[in-house]
Amino acid sequence: MSTTFQLDTATSRANPTPQPIRRLTVPAIRARKQDGVTAEPIVMLTAYTARQAQLLDAHCDVLLVGDSLGQVIYGLPSTVPVTLEMMANHAAAVVRGSWHAVVVVDMPFGTYEGSPEQAFASAAHLLKASGAAAVKLEGGAAMAATVEFVVQRGVPVIGHVGLTPQAVNVLGGYGARGRTEAEAAKIVGDARALADAGAFAIVVEGVVEPIAVAVTEAVPCPTIGIGASARCDGQVLVTEDLLGMFERVPRFVKRYEDIAALISGAAQRYAADVRNRTFPGPEQTYQAD
Ligand code: KIV
Repeated sequence: MSTTFQLDTATSRANPTPQPIRRLTVPAIRARKQDGVTAEPIVMLTAYTARQAQLLDAHCDVLLVGDSLGQVIYGLPSTVPVTLEMMANHAAAVVRGSWHAVVVVDMPFGTYEGSPEQAFASAAHLLKASGAAAVKLEGGAAMAATVEFVVQRGVPVIGHVGLTPQAVNVLGGYGARGRTEAEAAKIVGDARALADAGAFAIVVEGVVEPIAVAVTEAVPCPTIGIGASARCDGQVLVTEDLLGMFERVPRFVKRYEDIAALISGAAQRYAADVRNRTFPGPEQTYQAD
């Protein structure tokens, strides 16, 4: 799969096919925060497919091809088994389906922690194979040297602190972080280290609200919250969560639709039509002239 495939506007089922418009850039996202103030919060959602990207693109500043696709798309138990090729393929689809938002792709577990060189090779592969503009990686101070190495070689990076799902086996679960003074200080220190290393934004996930505010005040680059605070410089959610695709709703999610009920209801009506032979009807069948 590569970026040499473009969306075919003649065969796309989207109607009207979205019109190409000028894409936002990484420096434009970074520049949203000036002297500690972000006048226009950054809107970020996850996207994993071309059609999802088409529908979200006009409303978002950043589309994140999150490794949460491991659970959301593939039914995996965590993000740990997600591979570089999975990320590259979904990121390429999202780039094909978007014209406006900056596309950022998550670096999956095991593809960047070994060394700065490993991280650069993995990031370069993701960007070349997909056309995405930037990568996101998890971890704080321990990843700072890697972030610096990768950024200096032309790969924009979003950091990710607080609850870092790839570390679930170390953390022992997905509970909110920053409840003790030591943990809170570490999260703020992690964010500072990433910002100093050149990250253009930092996702702050699953932390108690005062820590999200402290991080936002501590770093010059924008923070993007999930389970954090409305005072972050932007917000991100997993799109399927806000659509109501799953029964379990984490506390930090606001559901805007109940798409699971729509899908299940449509499948139920289709199944009934097939069983009582009312589908396909005359409108859906080809007749001989
Ligand atoms: O993988 C993901 O979707 C993420 C966001 C939830 C921040 O990292």
